[in-house]
Amino acid sequence: MQVFSTVANYQAYRDTLFPSTSIGFVPTMGALHPGHLSLIEKAREMSDKVVVSIFVNPLQFNENSDFVKYPKPLDRDIHMLCQYDTDVLFLPTNDEMYPPGKDLSIKVDLSAYTEVLEGKFRPGHFDGVITVVHRLLKIIQPDFLFMGLKDFQQQTIIRHLIESCSISTQLQTVETVREEDGLAMSSRNVRIDTSLRPEANKLYETLMLARELRKKFLPGEVKQRCLEKLAASPFEVEYFEIVSANNLQPVTDWKPSGETVACVAAWLNDVRLIDNMML
Ligand code: PAF
Repeated sequence: MQVFSTVANYQAYRDTLFPSTSIGFVPTMGALHPGHLSLIEKAREMSDKVVVSIFVNPLQFNENSDFVKYPKPLDRDIHMLCQYDTDVLFLPTNDEMYPPGKDLSIKVDLSAYTEVLEGKFRPGHFDGVITVVHRLLKIIQPDFLFMGLKDFQQQTIIRHLIESCSISTQLQTVETVREEDGLAMSSRNVRIDTSLRPEANKLYETLMLARELRKKFLPGEVKQRCLEKLAASPFEVEYFEIVSANNLQPVTDWKPSGETVACVAAWLNDVRLIDNMML
């Protein structure tokens, strides 16, 4: 695996490739887990070269303390990437990503997608995500971009970003990888208190319940029953919404299967977890 920490070095490498060489790109913030590895595997299947980036993007954190606390097990990550046959690790510094004085503002308005769900509770978070992903796509110039469906809103926003800016990268999404009991894999799972861990799959159970209830009830009723189930668990719910998979707006009636998604965010003690399921 080659490691590049500057844009110039990555681009010099890119210039050595045949124009027909396809590049699959997996952007990450490190602390890799099986969810990331499934993205890398899909990238490996579909592309000639697999590029992974690790950059803990300060712009997408609401609290500086969260950014500082974010796990950064770099040696372990590099070891995992080598095992998964990654061709390139792009590991930029902050100045390389955000050169002082360079205008990186994005001209498209995606606020319809960024101000709901996660965006409502984490103001500015998606502005940071959009800025970093846009910059990474300009640098890496991949044919394919791989993102997980676990961050459902994120991948929806990036899809709209790619379309709006006419970026010639194809977004490929990958199913959420789950623990045996259904808990979605996340870098935050290691922070769940062991005494609460047996309850952590309640988000998944609630989403499965929503899927069941869809057969009998309208979205409003399904939401209500799911909130009741979560209220009887140790989770403190931030939101539980049933939205259109395309525009992320709440629905009052069902759309054809695969076009409606239930999204949830909730706190288990001091750990904030998100999950979602197509209904
Ligand atoms: O999903 C993530 O890990 C991050 O939001 C991303 C896409 C790497 C941007 O920093």
